Parts: sequence; structure tokens; C-alpha cells
Amino acid sequence: MAIKNKNSLLIPNTNSFLIILFLLFFLIALPKDLIALDTDSGKTLFKNFCAGCHINGGNIIRRSKNLKLASLKKNGINDSESIAKIARQGIGIMDGYSEQLGENGDKIVANWIWEQSQKAWVQE
Ligand code: HEC
Repeated sequence: MAIKNKNSLLIPNTNSFLIILFLLFFLIALPKDLIALDTDSGKTLFKNFCAGCHINGGNIIRRSKNLKLASLKKNGINDSESIAKIARQGIGIMDGYSEQLGENGDKIVANWIWEQSQKAWVQE
């Protein structure tokens, strides 16, 4: 009896091995998928609702109020949450887009914009 227990501890059966593999797969693969999804939808949201005026991170109406890092910083926009707030509520003569962006859309598009501003809007 004692020997049998020892063996089953040292050699896990195939089922538990498969379950562990399955869980590992999800731990590794799932977050990547979620991030990819966010990047895609951030880009799409931007194309649909922002690019009309902010093409390539510029601003066709008020050139100095663009989405490039230097301009954002100069205007006191230092993180993606500040961009999300502008996306929702608007700023100056720009309207807010909370309805169009939907739930969390403001944060997703703002993260994408913030990321682009760090990369000087150079697309890979
Ligand atoms: C119809 C044109 C238009 C659209 C569409 C638009 N914006 Fe703007 N945006 C502007 C204008 C104009 C300003 C400058 C507003 C002012 O200061 O009076 C501005 C300013 C900004 C700023 C501040 C930039 C800075 O350097 O101060 C951010 C951030 C911004 N927009 C984000 C967005 C996001 C996110 C979207 C999409 C959800 C969006 N905008 C869609 C016209 C637009």
C-alpha cells in the first residue's frame, strides 16, 4: 500500500498531465490574444471615429492640438487616461465620442493612441 502511494505521487497519470498542459496553454496563450484584440480594436476605433481629423496623429483643424507626444505633453496630456477622458467628453471645439466608442472603447482607443505617440506614429 505504501509503495503504491509513493508511485502514484512520482508518476502522475496521463489525465492530470493533460489537464496541466491545457491550463498552461491558456495561461500563455490567452493574455496574448486579449492584447492583440485590444490593439486591433484600438486601431479600428481610431480609424472610425478619430482619423477623420487626427489622420496619422495630426489635427487637420487645429494643427497644434495633435496627438504627437510633444504636443500632448505641452497641453498637459501625460497618460492614456487623459486621452480617454477627451475621447469621452471632448475638449475645446472637439465633441465627445462616448456614445460611438461604446463601453471601454474610450480606454481602448486611448491606449492605442498613447502607444502610437510613444512610437512617433510610425506604423510597423
Ligand atoms: C471632427 C474632428 C475631430 C474628430 C473626429 C476628433 N477630434 Fe480630437 N480634436 C479635434 C480638435 C479640433 C481638437 C482641438 C480642440 C481644441 O483645443 O479646441 C482636438 C483635440 C484632441 C486632443 C488633444 C490634443 C492636444 O495635443 O491637445 C485629443 C487627445 C483628441 N483630440 C483625441 C481624439 C480622439 C481620441 C478622437 C476619436 C474618438 C478624436 N479626437 C476625434 C478634432 C477632432
